[in-house]
Amino acid sequence: MISSRFFFALVLALPTIVTAANYSIVKEYAGSNFFDDWVFYGNFDNLTNGDAIFVTASQATSQQLAFVNSAGNAVMKVDNKTNVAFNDKRNTVRISTKDRFAVGSVWIADMLHVPFGCSVWPAFWSQAPNWPAGGEIDTFEGVNMVHNSQFSLHTEPGCTAVNAVQTSTLVNSTDCSFKTNSNEGCVVEDPDPNSYGAAFAAAGGGMFVTEFAETGISIWFFSRGNVPSSLQGNASSVDTSTLGKPVSNYPSGNCNIDQFFRAQNLIFDITLCGAGDRNVFAQTCSGICYNDYVIGSPSNYDNAYFEVRSVRVFGTSSAVDIPPGANGTSRENKAGFVVLFGVALATLVFLMAL
Ligand SMILES: *[C@@H]1O[C@H](CO)[C@@H](O)[C@H](O)[C@H]1NC(C)=O
Ligand SMILES: *[C@@H]1O[C@H](CO)[C@@H](O)[C@H](O)[C@H]1NC(C)=O
Ligand SMILES: *[C@@H]1O[C@H](CO)[C@@H](O)[C@H](O)[C@H]1NC(C)=O
Ligand SMILES: *[C@@H]1O[C@H](CO)[C@@H](O)[C@H](O)[C@H]1NC(C)=O
Ligand SMILES: *[C@@H]1O[C@H](CO)[C@@H](O)[C@H](O)[C@H]1NC(C)=O
Repeated sequence: MISSRFFFALVLALPTIVTAANYSIVKEYAGSNFFDDWVFYGNFDNLTNGDAIFVTASQATSQQLAFVNSAGNAVMKVDNKTNVAFNDKRNTVRISTKDRFAVGSVWIADMLHVPFGCSVWPAFWSQAPNWPAGGEIDTFEGVNMVHNSQFSLHTEPGCTAVNAVQTSTLVNSTDCSFKTNSNEGCVVEDPDPNSYGAAFAAAGGGMFVTEFAETGISIWFFSRGNVPSSLQGNASSVDTSTLGKPVSNYPSGNCNIDQFFRAQNLIFDITLCGAGDRNVFAQTCSGICYNDYVIGSPSNYDNAYFEVRSVRVFGTSSAVDIPPGANGTSRENKAGFVVLFGVALATLVFLMAL
């Protein structure tokens, strides 16, 4: 009797772990070690066909394109010193975390400055290794001289944003499929003018919070003056139920998170012009993206940098990845083994009790 009750208690306890709103710190990227656990892309932008070369770690260091500044913050920037010759591309940075973070995690980026300017297309986002399988979550994205940042998901066909509980009314598209509208994604703009550009920095920056939960994906942006006290300082846990309505929300109702998403690598990148940019360049900038900016004055890029105080990741322990080991086994797989092992053990105990 006791054993079978144990079995049912175990089965009932599993979903509770995954949907908890209170997450504990599992990983911090901050201070002088900020760049230790990221991979530099080290190739020209063959992903969006931007006019950018994503430098290697050693180039980033020698050219001062990625470094920790005297305030202890991580800076990632576009080269604003070099005159680029016609037909060449400009150096910039794309980094991605070695760890992957699975369903049941929250990441918070505390930033003081985000890149902006004509031709500049920055993002802080995440994706699973076999995109579009495993999905993509865009937590912060802006382009050229737009006034608002935007959020979106990109998935395989079948995921749409329906019944969102969110503060933003600026909904641009609800079908997250990469096959719809040339992979536009399900886009929500942040109405807060402090969410991008010069206004972001002037307000002291802010925090982007992404909750990647089985019940849905939610993103909050808090301009510095609106950061809740629970997120200030260096709290070791975050309770998303205290943060109020997210700015953008993608409930699981019409998008089964477990089906469309896998553990995510977090990514910072800044590209120039590029696939998406060509369509929108004229909306906020004049001239020709490549000719007038990329190979124009390097000072076009004086504002094309991220200054990041920290990226902190929180998670319910069974759902968060750890660095792939020598055998490449991720924690996501290990968590699966633990659950399988637990169920097998419980079944054994249950059978023994019969
Ligand atoms: C969240 O979890 C942490 C660590 O387990 C605990 O110290 C904290 O009190 C919890 N917070 C809430 C609001 O439950
Ligand atoms: C981009 O270039 C890298 C390095 O050559 C290569 O490994 C990768 O497959 C390329 N990606 C695409 C999408 O072409
Ligand atoms: C997104 O939608 C909002 C609200 O309809 C609109 O004001 C805005 O211009 C749209 N943005 C783009 C890039 O189309
Ligand atoms: C924040 O707290 C974590 C543990 O919760 C610790 O590892 C880290 O060093 C702290 N970071 C700072 C900047 O104090
Ligand atoms: C480049 O941009 C930085 C800000 O990121 C600025 O301090 C610097 O003066 C700019 N110009 C050069 C030539 O480095």
